[in-house]
Amino acid sequence: YPAEHQRMVDAHELLGKLYHHLLLNTKEGSDALKYLHSRGFSTEGIRKFKIGYSLPEWDMAVKYLSKRGFTEEELESAGLIIKRENDSGFFDRFRNRIMFPLFDEKGRIIAFSARAIEQSDSPKYLNTPETIIFNKSSLLYNYHGARSEIRRQGYAVLFEGFADVISADEADVKNGVAVMGTSLTNQHVQQLRRLTDTIIICFDSDQAGIEASNRAGSLLVDQGLEVKASMLPQGMDPDDYIRKHGAEKFRADVIGNALTWTAFKLHYYRFGKNLQNEGEKLKYIEEVMNELSKLNNPIERDLYIRQIADEFSLSLEVLENQQKQLVQAEE
Ligand code: UTP
Ligand code: MN
Ligand code: MN
Ligand code: MN
Ligand code: MN
Repeated sequence: YPAEHQRMVDAHELLGKLYHHLLLNTKEGSDALKYLHSRGFSTEGIRKFKIGYSLPEWDMAVKYLSKRGFTEEELESAGLIIKRENDSGFFDRFRNRIMFPLFDEKGRIIAFSARAIEQSDSPKYLNTPETIIFNKSSLLYNYHGARSEIRRQGYAVLFEGFADVISADEADVKNGVAVMGTSLTNQHVQQLRRLTDTIIICFDSDQAGIEASNRAGSLLVDQGLEVKASMLPQGMDPDDYIRKHGAEKFRADVIGNALTWTAFKLHYYRFGKNLQNEGEKLKYIEEVMNELSKLNNPIERDLYIRQIADEFSLSLEVLENQQKQLVQAEE
């Protein structure tokens, strides 16, 4: 890092250590710690991911880091403190929140994501803004921690939130990374590609998560990666699932039974459709037939066409003929 970057990282490392200490060893941090334990996070996990707690005070970071030689201007451009509008001086960006450090590829703290403890505090997660060392849309949470496991296991699990990464890690799924609440970008894909060519997408099972799975998966497929997608019960996210059903079931039923990309797309096109309705049924069949025409493997295509013929009592011949035309149009 150039000197200016290095100082920003140093400030984050110092503050991260303080937050971590406050969470684990002080009375002030005990409610936050209780909250994390009640959600199922272990002390070991809290240590591994260096989770912390920021005090409700307005100027803890300002004072702590000023005393250690950082100027207020430096801390402001690092995103850690904010200039008061009608007054002189600065105040802390993060107060009374659970602090999740965000690490760069070398494992150094370059930003924070801060979770509200009270339901009423919004936003739920407050993030460091864009700085010269932190770019939200290119960061994969836990890339540094998961790198060797992704290589060893031959695939990565892609989550939507970092709570899911931490939960999965505690459930012995240690090859997980997460986007920071943004869409998957080309930069993310390049980072993943350096480690593996196979990705299991395991996003939240709500409308937003399913749409995001579809977009992320399409991008990965277009870039030539092999993609699978996990299906969770409606309304759940991976963290919820692990807490409710346990680690073993998560590994076997969610990760182990992830759908192929085509199978995912067949599910995806069903969402929000009433297949008892003729029009919606026809629309579904059309979408699926289009999807199948993109497949390179004729056996896989044949398999799904038979499924569709069976399910909707359609003539196999008609479907096969239509598929031939679609494939020709693709070429
Ligand atoms: P989710 O709302 O799914 O959060 O957002 P979560 O991971 O399940 O968190 P818990 O279990 O409620 O604690 C997924 C991701 O979107 C980003 C965060 O990066 C989060 O990990 N996000 C979400 C924000 O940046 N701000 C928000 O207010 C909410
Ligand atoms: Mn979500
Ligand atoms: Mn979630
Ligand atoms: Mn949630
Ligand atoms: Mn969650």
